[in-house]
Amino acid sequence: MILDEIKTKKGKEKIVMLTAYDYQIAKLLNKTGIDLILVGDSLGMVVMGYPSTKKVTMGNMVYHTEAVVRGTKQIPVIGDMPINTCKTPAIALRNAKDFIKAGATGVKIEGHQPGVIDKLIANSKPVMGHIGLLPQTAIKYHLVGKNINEAKRIFADAIALDKLGVFSIVLECIPSGLAQRITESVSVPTIGIGAGKYCDGQVLVINDLLGMDEDFKPKYVKRFANLSVLIQKSVIKFKQEVKKGKYPDDEHSFL
Ligand code: KIV
Repeated sequence: MILDEIKTKKGKEKIVMLTAYDYQIAKLLNKTGIDLILVGDSLGMVVMGYPSTKKVTMGNMVYHTEAVVRGTKQIPVIGDMPINTCKTPAIALRNAKDFIKAGATGVKIEGHQPGVIDKLIANSKPVMGHIGLLPQTAIKYHLVGKNINEAKRIFADAIALDKLGVFSIVLECIPSGLAQRITESVSVPTIGIGAGKYCDGQVLVINDLLGMDEDFKPKYVKRFANLSVLIQKSVIKFKQEVKKGKYPDDEHSFL
């Protein structure tokens, strides 16, 4: 199974995952050799403009998963199960099947939901775990696992997910020391976001990496490009050229 390859990378090479929500970005990611694409429910915030991921539906996720899958041939695509889609193991299985039908290779589930995860894995649906900050249920987005009880619970969840048979675990917004202890204690790769350098891999929301939103920059985000400026400059140039009658010129017209 293709996701078994991800597991074998633990301790050997870092795993790179990025989110994608559409065909063109997926097509570009397909050429980069990254390991995994996540159709994250961050879709709700970066594509749909909601303040959180809480309004994202299965319909939204399937639509965008199909678009991403059209653009990627080699890289496994993981579908993020949105809020309210894992209410019972049977409901979760039906939704996971919809992701697989849309072309996903596996699904990601937020939080320690043993009944649901067990059911999916028993039905050959690969599951990526997700612990630490859980945006679907969080009131505020901030570092979690700072106090000893919270850290113990997150650590215990990681051990439990590993036992359930997930193929990897996303660690979101936890102290790097806790991420290190988890990484050293589980058999599957950990993929961090705001969880420091000791994780087996890293994930970012593609829009954050590309610098698409001038107003959003949490501490863990490094902007590897500044597309917000590039896009605005390009549009202003287009506007000026149209206003001045410079565009379209003969080169860009059918004569
Ligand atoms: O929805 C998402 O993009 C995610 C990542 C931040 C891991 O869950």
